[in-house]
Amino acid sequence: MTQAPIPVVVNGATGKMGRETIKAIAASKDMTLVGALARNPDRIGQDVGEVAGCGPLEVPILNDMQGTLALASQEKQPAVMVDFTHPDVVYENARAAIAYGVRPVIGTTGLSVEQLNDLADFADKASIGCLVIPNFSIGVVLMQQAAVQASRYFDHVEIIELHHNQKADAPSGTAIQTAQLLAEFGKAFNPPTVDETEKLPGARGSQTEDGIRIHSVRLPGLIAHQEVIFGAPGQLYTLRHDTSDRASYMPGVLLCIRKVLELKSLVYGLEKVL
Ligand SMILES: NC(=O)c1ccc[n+]([C@@H]2O[C@H](COP(=O)([O-])OP(=O)(O)OC[C@H]3O[C@@H](n4cnc5c(N)ncnc54)[C@H](OP(=O)(O)O)[C@@H]3O)[C@@H](O)[C@H]2O)c1
Repeated sequence: MTQAPIPVVVNGATGKMGRETIKAIAASKDMTLVGALARNPDRIGQDVGEVAGCGPLEVPILNDMQGTLALASQEKQPAVMVDFTHPDVVYENARAAIAYGVRPVIGTTGLSVEQLNDLADFADKASIGCLVIPNFSIGVVLMQQAAVQASRYFDHVEIIELHHNQKADAPSGTAIQTAQLLAEFGKAFNPPTVDETEKLPGARGSQTEDGIRIHSVRLPGLIAHQEVIFGAPGQLYTLRHDTSDRASYMPGVLLCIRKVLELKSLVYGLEKVL
């Protein structure tokens, strides 16, 4: 017997990531799009497939999250909501999805630690899977794994993340997550070598509790890029990942839509489900 397709709602369906996700779902045999959410009144009622550029899908864009989640929760199969919206609304979106028994796959970055903990509690109590994925790119996971390896041998490390200038949060969720992964063994990085003075505040970037510096660059023309630079006397070890097309995120997004159905709690990071 063939498995019924997974019903999926896309929140932020008209955005850059949302449109790419709509196309990827439309091309996936084991998924069916059951809802598309956005805010812009000019887009409401339009066929989301036409807006995404993959032809009509007979799913209108709506600005009614509660109604869309309520309908999705009535599907025969457990439904999933993919969220690529804005840091200001992602927490409420995820809570609403869990409340309706719809599994959230959260791509929107900018959730605070308190919000993440609260969502984890809420998902646990509801026994609902929830994935929070700061970066869906498999190449980024590989870069992070290489960085964790290198952190055993280098005491000095700085992260530079570079993104398009429409990005609302800084530093990027990926940069924060990379720093967290490096800090997991309890090592304190970047022991001071001189008394530093910042002549312009922020010149040395932000600093995590473990001493890792993160620098954020925002420019038109960039998509999403990150360098992790390790330094030691006489050598530099630089890891770099570049995203040149948002399609690169889609294998990770589709994988998470399938995986979240197997979970009963919140899981953070693509590396946990690869
Ligand atoms: N995890 C990853 O791998 C990954 C990769 C890339 C980006 N991201 C993150 O994903 C998020 C979206 O990125 P994007 O580049 O697709 O952004 P975008 O192009 O600006 O799209 C945002 C979408 O969310 C909707 N939206 C914006 N503000 C909203 C609000 N306050 N309430 C409800 N809907 C709202 C927009 O609808 P209207 O246009 O109708 O307002 C639009 O559909 C960002 O947080 C970004 O950092 C994550």
